[in-house]
Amino acid sequence: MKKKVLVLTGGGDCPGLNAVIRGIVKRAKQEKDWQVVGSMEAFNGILRDPMEIKKLSNRSTAGIHVKGGTILKTTNKGNPFDFPMKNEDGSVTIIDRSDELIEKIQDLGIEAVISIGGDGSQRISQKLFDQGLNIVGVPKTIDNDLSATNYTFGFRTAVQIATDSFDKLVTTGESHHRVMIMEVMGRDAGWIALHTAIAGGAEVCLIPEIPYDINKVVKHINQRYEKGKGFANIVIAEGAKSLNTKIVSKESDETGYEHVRLGGVAYQLSEQLKAAGCKADIRETVLGHTQRGGTPVASDRVLATLFGVKAFEMILNKEYGKMVSYLNNEITTVSLEAATSSYNYVATDSFLVHAAKNIGIAFGD
Ligand code: F6P
Repeated sequence: MKKKVLVLTGGGDCPGLNAVIRGIVKRAKQEKDWQVVGSMEAFNGILRDPMEIKKLSNRSTAGIHVKGGTILKTTNKGNPFDFPMKNEDGSVTIIDRSDELIEKIQDLGIEAVISIGGDGSQRISQKLFDQGLNIVGVPKTIDNDLSATNYTFGFRTAVQIATDSFDKLVTTGESHHRVMIMEVMGRDAGWIALHTAIAGGAEVCLIPEIPYDINKVVKHINQRYEKGKGFANIVIAEGAKSLNTKIVSKESDETGYEHVRLGGVAYQLSEQLKAAGCKADIRETVLGHTQRGGTPVASDRVLATLFGVKAFEMILNKEYGKMVSYLNNEITTVSLEAATSSYNYVATDSFLVHAAKNIGIAFGD
């Protein structure tokens, strides 16, 4: 009988997930006695009755590295420790199904699990590891907000999509002498915004790590209109806030969804700019989920493939309780504990911020 490794994707999707899955399957094929199976929608595929799992072969994963999304589907409402169960009357009870999950995985004869997911998913991996599950993690997120890896796949694709959109906004903004605001994702980190601002040549970049003074932003913009006509392009991260405002967010009404939902700060900024004396016409664009969709860029496909190969080799070496990581140009491993213990903020004293400031990008500080 072949040994089985279970693969799943959890949390929000991200370009490159399919390339990881294909990398795992191809690497496993090099070993005669291993078989890869996938659980649909994170661990939900195992917890469902009947289970939703599928065999992953070279044939079923051929060419998928080019495609966005995940062939295993995903969810951010499937935490086995806080699992939402619908009662007959429509109400929901949250229960811990982690023991049941581990038992079901063992009953299937699965040797080990590879969980591809962001910080939330890796925290779940850590807890399952503590309960005895043989598990390794693969980091994913467009936000690049995991501290134990220099980059996550999906990030560069998101930056490319945002930059392409920004380039389009520049020409229309310039033609109309407008201030164009483009809001990008990133949760509490400004990585996507900052990279896009540098790549696109933004006049202003507003990120969560640097609360902005709206009067300074307006002053910078007004200077561009001194000779009568001008234009200005702003990139703002969804988690940005001014000195006097809070993050724009709302509680989700989706059962089992554990995050607050960010989005809409572009409209708040627009109002703030007008109130602070910006005379130019202003337009807002919220890029939203376009940043997570479609074909991964080549470098994300490469990183994701390397992560997939490494993750399977960690299973071969029984390096459980660890996560694949890309550090200092090497594919290596870190403990899940270290991987989830701190958040990867943009350092305000980094060369990235220094360079952005020194090419004239204003942060409102
Ligand atoms: O973490 C990735 C991300 O795309 C964030 O940038 C964003 O705030 C969030 O997920 C959106 O989540 P959802 O797809 O659940 O709306």
